[in-house]
Amino acid sequence: MKKKIMDPEEELARAKGELKIFHWLSRSCSSDVSMDELLDKFTDLLLEVMKVEAGSILLQRDSRLFFKVAKGKKAKPLKETAVKHGEGIVGWVVKTGKSVIVRDVRKDRRFTTKFDEITGFKTKSILAVPLKMKGRIMGAIEILNPAREPFSGGSLEFLESLASQVVIAIENVYLLEETKERFSEMNALFDVSHIITSSIAQETLLNSIMRSATNMLEVEAISLLLVDGLTNELVFKVALGEKGRKIKEFRIPIDETSIAGWVAKNGKPIIVNDVMEDTRFNPHYGQKVDFRTKSILCVPLKIKDRIIGVAEAINKKDDERFDSRDQDLFATVANQIAMASENTKLNQDLEIMLFGTVASLVTAIEAKDTYTKGHSERVTEYALMLGRALKLSEDELVILRLSSLLHDIGKIGVMEGVLSKKDPLTEEEWKSIRQHPATGAKILEPVKQISNIIPFILHHHERYDGKGYPDCMSGEGIPLFSRIIAIGDTFDAMTSDRPYRKGLSAQIALGEIEKNRGTQFDPHLAEVFIQTYRGSNEL
Ligand SMILES: [Fe+2]
Ligand SMILES: [Fe+2]
Repeated sequence: MKKKIMDPEEELARAKGELKIFHWLSRSCSSDVSMDELLDKFTDLLLEVMKVEAGSILLQRDSRLFFKVAKGKKAKPLKETAVKHGEGIVGWVVKTGKSVIVRDVRKDRRFTTKFDEITGFKTKSILAVPLKMKGRIMGAIEILNPAREPFSGGSLEFLESLASQVVIAIENVYLLEETKERFSEMNALFDVSHIITSSIAQETLLNSIMRSATNMLEVEAISLLLVDGLTNELVFKVALGEKGRKIKEFRIPIDETSIAGWVAKNGKPIIVNDVMEDTRFNPHYGQKVDFRTKSILCVPLKIKDRIIGVAEAINKKDDERFDSRDQDLFATVANQIAMASENTKLNQDLEIMLFGTVASLVTAIEAKDTYTKGHSERVTEYALMLGRALKLSEDELVILRLSSLLHDIGKIGVMEGVLSKKDPLTEEEWKSIRQHPATGAKILEPVKQISNIIPFILHHHERYDGKGYPDCMSGEGIPLFSRIIAIGDTFDAMTSDRPYRKGLSAQIALGEIEKNRGTQFDPHLAEVFIQTYRGSNEL
């Protein structure tokens, strides 16, 4: 289509206006706007720059098309109005996925007066383009009645390129809103601080409780067996005493005759001071490990009415007999264990769920860009490798894992094209990328329980020499976990393929880390990373 010659001043004004929208759109992507704010402001700008009387954005929701924003004189009542499949010009655009200019609506059979009847507006001409996301039509933009020049091929092209930008922004905001929602759901679900403080390995905790019970009861051996609901067996969780290690390998079917099995089935404590006289006694396991059982005190482990296992004390020392005081004491211990093990079990389940949720979120974000796929997982691997080499505690490793998985969550706000761009980035694009640690911090802010990891995410692009961002922190002023993540992050960035180059070999990347010790990286951490990586990859 031949472009109409415009007055140069007008053309300049138009170009400026176009730039203004593009500029605003790219900025709005990296900031924290709601969908309504985004579309509202966008349509305002559109009307101003295109100099039209009215304009709207329509979106599909649950396979129905409706006016999401309607601007201009009398347009208000249209908001949230539904458009039937193929109805009117805009319905046609969404149905066919084609753009259209209708200079005189009276001459076009697709036009419907229905919407003018609702608003009292008089539509004369329409320019409408579809909103397409990865081939899927998600809605349309339409503008009505240009104030001066009639709609031209140029205006159509311009609106189409705006449409392609705005869908990215829309998708970004959707993703951001969804992420926030998921995180606030997590708020209710997880008490992460609790998971972290009580993630002491179950074994250690149980072992120490059982050890003190051995002393209190003055017995030769003590064991704790938990019900494996899948196989209906009792499984040794703790076995203290001379033959403890060997006996731990056994699994005892609950239905098989045994004192432990009887207690697990009946939920009642039992004292057997001479096992030879009790038909429920099963000598099999003791014989196998060459251990002679004489007397047994066995109590159930219950949570509410559910039996989760049994605790067994064997052979009271000096041939004494178990009495009801021993039984009460042991029952109390069993009770504590039941509660503790349920808590740890619960916490382990929650932890698994938490990491599952976080991982699926991260995958969704990384899917935006093929070049970052798997990045956060790999950074996490490197960070944990370094964390273990530094002998961080299990609790600290949980925090480190969460922080590194989420370190780039703020990239959700960076325009899609920017992340995978081949050409050098503009200043504006750099700004938007540098914003991601702060955006990440903002996303996590409402999740009270993980607020302790926010600083690690906020500062993962600080440099040891103070030349990083966002706060130009330096040296050990930068949180330890951020310094750890920074190394894993850069190592992965160097060794992965990018749109503009192939990934470096691990050997060369390690050399780069070596070179930047003390400037970009914490010199000690970098050294440990290099050694550990070499050691575990035989480089
Ligand atoms: Fe980052
Ligand atoms: Fe990163």
